[in-house]
Amino acid sequence: MPIEWNEEDKVFHLYNQKISYLIQIVHGKYPAHLYWGKRIQTLQPTLILPYKGRPFSPMTEPTDSKFSLDTLAQEYPAFGNGDFRSPAYQLRTKDGSTITEFVYDSHEITQGKPRLEGLPSAYVENNQEADTLVITLVDPVLAIGLDLIYTIYHDLDVITRSVSFEHRGSQKVEIHKCMSMSVDFLSSKWDWLQLHGTWARECHIERQPLNHGTQMISSARGASSHQHNPFIALLSKEATEEHGDVYGVSLVYSGNFQASIEVDPYETTRLAMGINPFDFIWLLMPGETFQTPEALMVYSPDGLGGMSRTFHKLLRTRVCRGIYRDRTRPILFNNWEATRFNFSEKKLKQLADAAANLGIELFVLDDGWFGHRDNDKTSLGDWDVNRKKLPHGLKGIAEYIQAKGMQFGLWVEPEMVSPDSELYRLHPDWCLHVPGRKRTLSRNQLVLDLSREDVCDWLIDTFTNVFTKAPISYVKWDMNRNMTEVGSAALPPERQKETAHRYMLGLYRILDTLTERFPEILFESCSGGGGRFDPGMLYYMPQTWTSDDTDAVERLKIQYGTSLVYPALTMGAHVSDVPNQQTGRNTPLQMRLYVAMAANLGFEMKVDQLTKEERVEIQKEIHFYKQIQDLVCFGDLFRLLSPFEGMDTAFMYVAPDKSKAVVFYYKVLATPNPPFYRLKLRGLDPQMKYQINNGGQAFYGDELMKIGITMPLVKSDYFSIIFLIQRLEKESLRF
Ligand code: DGJ
Repeated sequence: MPIEWNEEDKVFHLYNQKISYLIQIVHGKYPAHLYWGKRIQTLQPTLILPYKGRPFSPMTEPTDSKFSLDTLAQEYPAFGNGDFRSPAYQLRTKDGSTITEFVYDSHEITQGKPRLEGLPSAYVENNQEADTLVITLVDPVLAIGLDLIYTIYHDLDVITRSVSFEHRGSQKVEIHKCMSMSVDFLSSKWDWLQLHGTWARECHIERQPLNHGTQMISSARGASSHQHNPFIALLSKEATEEHGDVYGVSLVYSGNFQASIEVDPYETTRLAMGINPFDFIWLLMPGETFQTPEALMVYSPDGLGGMSRTFHKLLRTRVCRGIYRDRTRPILFNNWEATRFNFSEKKLKQLADAAANLGIELFVLDDGWFGHRDNDKTSLGDWDVNRKKLPHGLKGIAEYIQAKGMQFGLWVEPEMVSPDSELYRLHPDWCLHVPGRKRTLSRNQLVLDLSREDVCDWLIDTFTNVFTKAPISYVKWDMNRNMTEVGSAALPPERQKETAHRYMLGLYRILDTLTERFPEILFESCSGGGGRFDPGMLYYMPQTWTSDDTDAVERLKIQYGTSLVYPALTMGAHVSDVPNQQTGRNTPLQMRLYVAMAANLGFEMKVDQLTKEERVEIQKEIHFYKQIQDLVCFGDLFRLLSPFEGMDTAFMYVAPDKSKAVVFYYKVLATPNPPFYRLKLRGLDPQMKYQINNGGQAFYGDELMKIGITMPLVKSDYFSIIFLIQRLEKESLRF
């Protein structure tokens, strides 16, 4: 049983072959954090949990003058009765106080991993894959139970955590803060790393040393956001791509979040993550429970690369679901950058003819097919086809596309409403708003109030109808603004601060219902690109449109940063025209192709206006992509050169059995009179011989990893090259 309880020392040991996580119940009451890291065999807790009385640190236990919550490394700390650091939770009782005292009551260890009611979470396919520990704390005055829920996977170096409150008392309380996890490390010698950005510039990597005090990232936008991905990592000072300790935490949630790291004067580092407590209050009535989202916690002794590979496996196989989970995705064409709103059935057919000719497998009709949506000022909410543009309806165009041998996909933006729409005229109170206040527009639209059951039911019916109108194989679920005037006409005043979280619960219910109702549809989530690229969305929709920025150079950073947490199989990557619509940059077709081929390849260019040479090049590369698609989608990622550190970017995907690999190398700007450069590969079998490209030279794995492949000397900007590396079965073993 990989969760052990040592009754004598009051220590829980969660472990698998590679990692250990230890918790001690100190003084029979307080869950203290002992250790998280490489697997250890046994532990004598008194040796590693020293404490001593410190000036100005309150004496928590009258009988133990050395003991204070203020200096204890804790698992789920409170504020107000001894610990002056940032708490993991805060409740407000009917007398206005926020003092609570949750202490150990009982625990339960079970096989498997329970699903979280109403929320996305990592899962198991059978109970042998993981074990779960629930530590129940109780505040005797309030008669509220607080469950700390931990799961450890056997074959993944992952611990998941969440928290649930169960109200068995009689007075109403308000939850003002409830993080999903909190861990205190007994050291502050760390760097921390985040993925920050904005629209068209998502997931830029920033690594910096920890300082005393609090460092924090968050979203209060009603979405996980372009600005900060719901992910944070602590790295040992010497940690690199492939070496050193890294602790990564990612939240399975698509709404407002907060991740904070606090360093105290005794060099304890408190890392916590959960729903953003700012502007959040949840009323918990007797008999009710509240479940937090789940945090995914990955420890890697093998640097950032090791952390990423664990996240990739976890997200790809135990967060994503559905029939597409283990399948490569169709190569798609999307008409957005080619036509924007300005298309007709004739134009779409022209594009479809050209797309089919290139070898594209899925044709996606983007924004502008419904209502009278000829621009972004109108019609969201009126999900009837625009017969002027599509006289034969969705069915007509879908059948044309199918006859060309492609699948048909459709763009929708269900969560929004345009003030210029029948829906808004009929239901002006169906959007998020605060009575008597203006309704702030963003991209000319308002956000539907998904905290309302009736709005969610309407959306489920409406989109069930849309998705059955035509043979639809793919849906792009877009969301193009963040929330303002967050309030709901359906909630009483004391529940208004629940709106943003209730919205997420409503959205998850809609997605649950629709994805279950349409299991054959491949769903791709999008929020102006990567504005909601998070594990919560991936639970329902196994891929995300990575960014509205399709410029090949910018995409190097965006995709590289995104790959820290998310596997290639979850990333949409398209080839577009030049000059690029976001940057005005001209990059060669090969570079654009090679960047997009590093994830789920798609096209959103004027495919009907390509030259013959361009057509031939695209056909050839699509053919090649088919050969490497399995590797890209299911291989282990090794990042070799970072676009954040220089002009060159390189990474490779290695087949799990090390029989093959594909290496991508890009050089953005040429160097005059350049030195030779050898790219050292990783992840291969050192004893095996590999051939570089079909018919090319063969080298042993150790040669490729220790000496490397010499990159060509080129006199041109935007150089890119791909190497396919295959094990030579016969002459392989050297010894
Ligand atoms: C934002 C998306 O990211 C784009 O790809 C496109 O679908 C537009 N919305 C359409 O309005």
